[in-house]
Amino acid sequence: MKPYIYVTRKLPKEAIERFEAEFEINMWDYEDVPVPREILIKEAMKADALLTMLSDSIDETILNAGENLKVVANLAVGFDNINVEAANKRGIAVCNTPDVLTDTTADLAFSLLMATARRIVEAAEMVKQGEWKSWSPLLLAGSDIHHKTIGIVGMGKIGSAVARRATGFEMEILYHNRTRKPEVEKELGAVYSSFEDLVMKSDFIVCLTPLTNETRNLFTREVFKKMKSSAIFINVGRGPVVDEEALYEALVDGDIAAAGLDVFVKEPISAEHPLLKLSNVIAIPHIGSSSVETRVIMMKLCLENSKAVLNGEEPKTLVNKEWKALVK
Ligand code: GLV
Ligand code: GLV
Repeated sequence: MKPYIYVTRKLPKEAIERFEAEFEINMWDYEDVPVPREILIKEAMKADALLTMLSDSIDETILNAGENLKVVANLAVGFDNINVEAANKRGIAVCNTPDVLTDTTADLAFSLLMATARRIVEAAEMVKQGEWKSWSPLLLAGSDIHHKTIGIVGMGKIGSAVARRATGFEMEILYHNRTRKPEVEKELGAVYSSFEDLVMKSDFIVCLTPLTNETRNLFTREVFKKMKSSAIFINVGRGPVVDEEALYEALVDGDIAAAGLDVFVKEPISAEHPLLKLSNVIAIPHIGSSSVETRVIMMKLCLENSKAVLNGEEPKTLVNKEWKALVK
């Protein structure tokens, strides 16, 4: 019998066909509807590998159900949706998709920054709604991007790629990270900064940190109050890093000027959410790595990682390095 891989969304044929000779691959029926929990549990009970989405909660219940489960391959660089500790206990490998999505996600982060600064969404809506009455001197005047200060919170690979884009706009680059990054300081002239200094001095604050116990609710009302009143806040990391009520109040009270958000505490965000009522908020549906090219590469990487583990080899992009010790 071929090892069984269950995929929690419908993926294009081209992503999986190369693997079908060696594995039995079954997918959830829909591309745009998450797999129901009961079905995920039933599939986990049968599966040797699970190919999961960041919207699936892969908790202890799912992992314990997986009698034969050897690997969870998540279609994302982030893996806060997976209980890695529980996977460690069961010797299950957890894989993600770093590197292949770095430039694509940085492109999105920078385009969200630019769209927010230059009010692209409001402007496009105005034209389509027939509300463009005349050219006027301050029509939809936004903020400059070039020569401003960008503060990057979370200087991983994506943060560095955003910084590289910022050099093209001749921006001053500040960054905050758990560890210093001498290579980015040297190559891009980025300046390491305390979190407090960064939020006080930056014109654009770009959040790219993963969600951990340390980063949950990092952006509080106090933090927004320290920002410049002209500051623009961009979040392309994870929603729960921000206290959304505090962000709403900061935007309404004028503590900051605008926000561009790709991620939210609860996804999908409700259309009734107060943040979505503000004209100085651009909200997009967690599409950081979503180019056709990159998503297909991510899918194939997930399958390659699953294949490696099922063949007793080390996967290319393993999250839980403890796994190697566990399976030996
Ligand atoms: C997307 O948010 C990812 O983690 O890849
Ligand atoms: C990983 O690729 C990251 O940028 O955090």
